[in-house]
Amino acid sequence: MKLFIDTANVSEIRDAAEMGILSGVTTNPSLVAKEGRDFVQVLQEILELVDGPISAEVVSLDADGMVKEGLEYAKMHKNIVIKVPMTSEGLKAVHRFAQQGIRTNVTLVFSANQALLAARAGASFVSPFIGRLDDISFDGIELIRDISSIFDIHGIDTEIIAASIRHPMHVTQAALAGAHIATCPYKVLDQMTKHPLTDQGIERFLADWSTVPKK
Ligand code: E4P
Repeated sequence: MKLFIDTANVSEIRDAAEMGILSGVTTNPSLVAKEGRDFVQVLQEILELVDGPISAEVVSLDADGMVKEGLEYAKMHKNIVIKVPMTSEGLKAVHRFAQQGIRTNVTLVFSANQALLAARAGASFVSPFIGRLDDISFDGIELIRDISSIFDIHGIDTEIIAASIRHPMHVTQAALAGAHIATCPYKVLDQMTKHPLTDQGIERFLADWSTVPKK
């Protein structure tokens, strides 16, 4: 399973990119708003840091508007993926982008049928939101498992991005459930690096090392 970072914060992206773990970036209007910066400028900076799919989300609700907005982002770079909401208008836009060879990420997916529709419309990626499902007492990981089985059975090559990741266990579970990608907040990537026994181990090695006679 590949790892994306789910943020519009350039320093978080730079830090994760330096670890060599990043295969892509996802953003959304809320994450962009949090930064209080011009989005095109932010995208340009991200493009310089990460050589992989970078999702830029449209905010129009009609297919024509989505296509218009998406084409503006798509012309910036081949790595830009247009993120489109899972609606019937969104599917029309996905279909039109696919006809032009522009990759899309269908977002706000909460059911297996929505994922199937998105894939059939020509989406390159689908983003089931596991944390938001867990929040309302539905099993987000079960959804990943269902979508993964359906795509396998029917030879669908749309990639599944486990989104709305809240903690490191979600990442492990999403990988086991068949997600191709997990898009993680910086905090979760950071939490994934840690283990108390690693810290203890380093402490003990350094303590022992300090007793080694030096010439
Ligand atoms: C996915 O691409 C979304 O940006 C994201 O994962 C949403 O997560 P949230 O539920 O934490 O807002």
